[in-house]
Amino acid sequence: MRTLSPLRLPNGVVVENRLAVAPMTTAQSEADGRVSVAERAWLERLAGDGYGMVLTCAAAISRTSIAFPNQLSFGEERFVPELTALAAAMRAGGTLPVAQLCHGGARAIPALTGQPARSASRYELPGIPGFVPPEPFTEAELAEVVEDHAAAAERACRAGFAGVEMHGANGYVFTQFLSTMTNLRHDGYGGSLANRARLARETVQAVRKRVPADFIVGFRLSFEGFGPETGLDLDETIQVMSWLAEDGLDYGHVSHLQLDARSQKYPADVALRRIRAGVGAALPLMAAGGVNSSADAEAAMDLGADLVAIGRAAIGNTRVPERFARGEALVRTPFSREHLAAVGVSADFLGYLTAPGPLAGLHIVG
Ligand SMILES: Cc1cc2nc3c(=O)[nH]c(=O)nc-3n(C[C@H](O)[C@H](O)[C@H](O)COP(=O)(O)O)c2cc1C
Repeated sequence: MRTLSPLRLPNGVVVENRLAVAPMTTAQSEADGRVSVAERAWLERLAGDGYGMVLTCAAAISRTSIAFPNQLSFGEERFVPELTALAAAMRAGGTLPVAQLCHGGARAIPALTGQPARSASRYELPGIPGFVPPEPFTEAELAEVVEDHAAAAERACRAGFAGVEMHGANGYVFTQFLSTMTNLRHDGYGGSLANRARLARETVQAVRKRVPADFIVGFRLSFEGFGPETGLDLDETIQVMSWLAEDGLDYGHVSHLQLDARSQKYPADVALRRIRAGVGAALPLMAAGGVNSSADAEAAMDLGADLVAIGRAAIGNTRVPERFARGEALVRTPFSREHLAAVGVSADFLGYLTAPGPLAGLHIVG
């Protein structure tokens, strides 16, 4: 099976197999962002499951970036000792631990950050209950966003993580800058696609400069904008990914709930296949969305994925790579609460999975 074969990344690091755990928020770290006992136990379970790479939840990069209560953080020096123990435990499980770094932008939570949310521009999102229009970032604050990513990546590196992935998908800060709907700026960070991609590019360049060549740098993008924050078409997504590849990515990650979804702009085509063709063969691509069987993972590779990320199925099933090798069927969503407890889902994580909000439509828990 191709999904169980190793992959050499552009920086020379070998990923033992093509299966990865998708980044998934668990909302179970300590209130200040420190690794909790539950978070460590959860990531250790995933690390021992046989995946080539395990991504953490979207983690904070600074106090002002926090987008979830009880969000893991790489944003402060004092967290490094526990992050070091976490990375060592994950590597001992046999995987490459990769931290997903996230700035909430408009989705940062003022009660946790101590300041009004900032984004590209002041914009409304009708239809999102309770959405408070953010304040536009000043250029000096954008320099801090870039620096905070680089500092968080350096901390992850020093702690023993194998890499970082910038969260540029699903409506967080980079999506907010890329989207013409939410980026109404007239300065060097708004207007043309090159300007809208500038924050992402400066961040990847700064991270790449701060970490050694064998440290993995990835970037996650949604196919064509995200949810209400649309305004990036497929050609633009391909262009942005190609620029980021030039800036030193080891892999690009494309996020969608269904990785074989058709493009909105080119409805006759599967978006992933077009992205693969557009970015060229040199950049390894990770794809996530709807993988529930070995056949799904192999089909993702047929569409051009080099790495296949598994989200919900990785929560509810232990040792997925081995099960794929044996052709065993997985337990499917909706999972029962008892089943989730039996596979290591903590009470706090279960609380997040069952809370009203963006996950509600995914029917993860029965
Ligand atoms: C509980 C949960 C939390 C998630 N949190 C994140 C996150 O922190 N960062 C991110 O990029 N995507 C997040 N996602 C999206 C997943 O990474 C993945 O793209 C999505 O679930 C589709 O893959 P799947 O069909 O294998 O679940 C989350 C998904 C779930 C189910």
